Amino acid sequence: MKIIKTIAEMREVLSPYKKSGKTIGLVPTMGALHAGHASLIDASAKDCDVTVVSVFVNPIQFGKNEDLDKYPRRLQADAELAAKHGAAFVFAPEVKEMYPDGDPLTLVRDESLESMYCGAYRPGHFRGVLTVVTKLFMITGANKAYFGQKDYQQEFLIRRMVADLNYDIEIVICPIVREESGLARSSRNEYMSEEERKSALAISAGLRTAKMAYDEGERKVVPLRDAVVKSILAARGIVQFVEVASAKDLHTFKGGTLGEDEKAVILVAAFFGKTRLIDNVEL
Ligand code: PAJ
Repeated sequence: MKIIKTIAEMREVLSPYKKSGKTIGLVPTMGALHAGHASLIDASAKDCDVTVVSVFVNPIQFGKNEDLDKYPRRLQADAELAAKHGAAFVFAPEVKEMYPDGDPLTLVRDESLESMYCGAYRPGHFRGVLTVVTKLFMITGANKAYFGQKDYQQEFLIRRMVADLNYDIEIVICPIVREESGLARSSRNEYMSEEERKSALAISAGLRTAKMAYDEGERKVVPLRDAVVKSILAARGIVQFVEVASAKDLHTFKGGTLGEDEKAVILVAAFFGKTRLIDNVEL
């Protein structure tokens, strides 16, 4: 396992793979790797000749009052986990390497969804994500990149960016990895106390209830949404948003009834204590 700190070296070590037509898989992360990340690395290692895991806590996707400073950083443990799951390289540049002139002036933005759902509460977040993901694609020249369904809006925007701008890369989306309790794995789970962690199960429990109702024939948007809201409130969580959205274009269903073949998703963001968690379920 090699930890690579510079863009020049990353390009250099990947160049022979590219020249010999090998498939390069990229797993972009912010580190503090857990079983969710591991599932993406496994998928890449299975599909591709060489897997690169990037570990970069990207400052331009954090708001002023967010957790950039306290975001968990443990590169050595991350490199070990990445190696165990079949990655050949960890790309872990310093901020100065990625943004030598400070915040970049060229940004990739999604004009329609960047201020909805998570974007409504995290201004600038998605342009920070799309910009760094573009840079990682350009630096590695990967053939495939692996993202989790856990960050539904993020993977949606990445897929749309790749389609809209004709990036020559295949995007692979992997299912949400959960703890046995149902809690979606997240690097931010470790911010929570034991008690908060237990309360936070209300998110996945609420999503399960809604999904069950849907599977039993419920198509009205309000009760599907309310099942999740009620579950979170009963556990004394604070709901930031719970929305039923179209899986096709992420527009919000405010009320009414879902069509029989309508692919929908319930998107959630909620606070337990100071920790903001997101989750979702496809219907
Ligand atoms: P990070 O939160 O570290 O997540 C990296 C990748 O792991 C994302 O694609 C995310 O969806 C996936 N992931 C996280 N938890 C998961 C889980 N429980 N199950 C399955 N996949 C999971 O998302 C980011 O970093 C950043 O925004 C990034 C894309 C790296 C850009 O900076």
